[in-house]
Amino acid sequence: MKYTLMHKNIPVMDLEIGGKACAIQKTGRIYAPEHIPLGALSYRKKLNKSALNRWWQGRSIPADRQGVREAMAAFGVSAPQGLLEKSLGLSLSDQYWIRPEGMDISWEEFNFFENRFSEDVGNALLGKGLKYGAWDMMSPDITTNGCLKKMWKIIGGRRWLFKGGESEWQQEPFNEVLATEIMERIGTIDFVPYSLIWENDMPYSVCGDFVTKDTEFIPAADLMRALKQPNHLSDYEHFIKCCGFLGIPDAEESIGKMLAVDCLIANDDRHLHNFGAVRNAETLEWLGLAPVFDCGNSMWGSQPTSRINTENVDTPSKPFRKSHAEQIKLVTSFDWLKPETLKDIDGLCCEVFQQNPYMDEYRRDKLCRAIAMRAESLLEIIEQQAHGQRTSTGEMKLI
Ligand SMILES: Nc1ncnc2c1ncn2[C@@H]1O[C@H](COP(=O)(O)OP(=O)(O)OP(=O)(O)O)[C@@H](O)[C@H]1O
Ligand SMILES: [Mg+2]
Repeated sequence: MKYTLMHKNIPVMDLEIGGKACAIQKTGRIYAPEHIPLGALSYRKKLNKSALNRWWQGRSIPADRQGVREAMAAFGVSAPQGLLEKSLGLSLSDQYWIRPEGMDISWEEFNFFENRFSEDVGNALLGKGLKYGAWDMMSPDITTNGCLKKMWKIIGGRRWLFKGGESEWQQEPFNEVLATEIMERIGTIDFVPYSLIWENDMPYSVCGDFVTKDTEFIPAADLMRALKQPNHLSDYEHFIKCCGFLGIPDAEESIGKMLAVDCLIANDDRHLHNFGAVRNAETLEWLGLAPVFDCGNSMWGSQPTSRINTENVDTPSKPFRKSHAEQIKLVTSFDWLKPETLKDIDGLCCEVFQQNPYMDEYRRDKLCRAIAMRAESLLEIIEQQAHGQRTSTGEMKLI
């Protein structure tokens, strides 16, 4: 089918979607080159069709998400990408959508920020009310990626994302709450607050949409396409350089805060779609890095209790270094972190995990000991850094 890719009410380019994979088969006239999704451009600012397809298909629910197969069978589609056209590709995280050829429709009539949307898809993905029959597919759940089962709901006029857990201990929602409490205590970090709710004895985290009808989230993976990465630049240096090139304010300070929190909670999944930047979707002005979100894959949530490391911070990390012990060295300033805010972090951890009936006491105690050790190590690193010196790459060298 023929469409125009739209950015709010701005026509960006014509395209054709079809075939078994529901892929973009052809691109046509370009109306607004500056509004082409960053993820679809080469660093030379040329439209790249395979990157465009990766960007488009990356908007959809991953095929390996829990419960997705059953939902697809009920919807009568063979792949989640097949759903994108049914909801016009509209999202609650960015402002791109597709307008079918010949249809005179506007963003105001359909966007999910201002219009109601269906909960059919979300309910099906959560395994609730799986029915065969007429589905209302106008749902932002079709364009919300990530592995965990999740759905958007409108409550009190606001858009809220509900996310379930998948580990044996249902730890992910509690991890989100723990990260929230820690960042709230620290008091200097821009973050998305998560709270906990229960439904049918299962815990879910709930957070508000950090994107508004005027803004949008662009993942780090797309930001890093702004420039060609030379061999001599590390991913971290390249990321900072791209942010500078694009004009994203305070990127280094914001990323440092995120990396420090990730170190504290042993986040092992800060991949390039779990952070990024926010811009105004019409003026394209960059507002800054996105508030810290998706901290659920942390605190050894998917690991057996025996794997919880209470000895040191040398645990797996993403995206710039393989271990937190290394990644934390990228943080060049801790002026924003008052040591006393980390006091009694194990007490806080205990309070949060005590609410989790899926977690036994032995595991909880071990996690509390682990985070207390990590807070102590972080403070030692900060102390050492204060007496350290910078290397030529800007990293702090411990002496
Ligand atoms: N509060 C929010 N406001 C706007 N968009 C959001 C929000 N939270 C998440 N998103 C979007 O939804 C996507 C999936 O959400 P999230 O990363 O929380 O899910 P996940 O299943 O935990 O992901 P992962 O597969 O990384 O574990 C994010 O990459 C982001 O694009
Ligand atoms: Mg994620």
